Amino acid sequence: MIIRPRRLRKNKVIRDMAAETRLSPSMLVYPIFIREGKGIVEDIPAMPGQKRYSPDTFPRALEELEKTGVRSVLLFGIPEHKDECGSEAYNENGVVQQALREGKKYFPDICFIADVCMCEYTSHGHCGVLKGESVDNDPTLELLARTALSQAQAGADIVAPSDMMDGRVAAIRAKLDCAGMEDTLIFSYAVKYASAFYGPFREAAGSAPSFGDRKSYQMDPRNVREGVREAMLDIDEGADMIMVKPGLPYLDVLRAVSEISCVPVGAYCVSGEYSMIKAAAANGWLDEKRIIAETAVCLARGGADIIVTYFAPEMARMMKEGEL
Ligand code: PBG
Repeated sequence: MIIRPRRLRKNKVIRDMAAETRLSPSMLVYPIFIREGKGIVEDIPAMPGQKRYSPDTFPRALEELEKTGVRSVLLFGIPEHKDECGSEAYNENGVVQQALREGKKYFPDICFIADVCMCEYTSHGHCGVLKGESVDNDPTLELLARTALSQAQAGADIVAPSDMMDGRVAAIRAKLDCAGMEDTLIFSYAVKYASAFYGPFREAAGSAPSFGDRKSYQMDPRNVREGVREAMLDIDEGADMIMVKPGLPYLDVLRAVSEISCVPVGAYCVSGEYSMIKAAAANGWLDEKRIIAETAVCLARGGADIIVTYFAPEMARMMKEGEL
């Protein structure tokens, strides 16, 4: 036998030398939930290990996070008051805007990404304003753009629209540029599916739609070509980075999108993926550490330059310790 592939798997040093996928904490983004109030640090039952913070306790979370080597966070807001048009999303003193100011003050070197969407802020839980039972695309664009601008002005380095309205990247870019915020990046959830894997998030953020579902704006899980089209559109509209979401169940989409993309591509390993692993590990059915490591590797191998995950602190620690 001339060719023996096993030679390259002989020991750890050789395996590490031959590895096709390499990971670094710089690729990780950690999502954090911010709710209105003071002195709050509370558990999220559907996502064991994850917490909701109020703007004043949020810097404590950042202090812990910095020690792990994670440098970027993605913020979601949970307002006290919701209304038809989600006005707390673009309130300059809204919960995310407050958290951004607090966070930036103490941790100017952390990269703050703000999720731009209406669903946590609307009384009906849909990602925009309604016309009858349906989300009205074009009037929603102005509200999303206002939200992004208020976040950028509060200190967001990057805004991340997750609403799936058509044309929102262009609308946000125009609004930011008009206000002199041309250096704020847009990390668009370009390829976001209507997925049941968001279940635990909707409990965490109280953002489940009060009627119907999101299938008329989020993508159909049966489609890949459509994902490539969404990615190309957002890049054309000025997205600096794009994202595929969910993560592991959509690696084929991630691969297809990363092959055509000329901007960095992220994968969002969502709440359901997190909670499934946590539940199985709690029952002793899976080795949690090894699953976390394999998840990171698979997403990177699938084409992700950036990984958004609730496992970011654990992943970063494992990367630093050479376990990943
Ligand atoms: C807001 C938003 C959602 C997620 C990210 N941004 C929820 C949804 O679309 O219903 C899901 C993230 C997760 O499940 O971890 N639109």
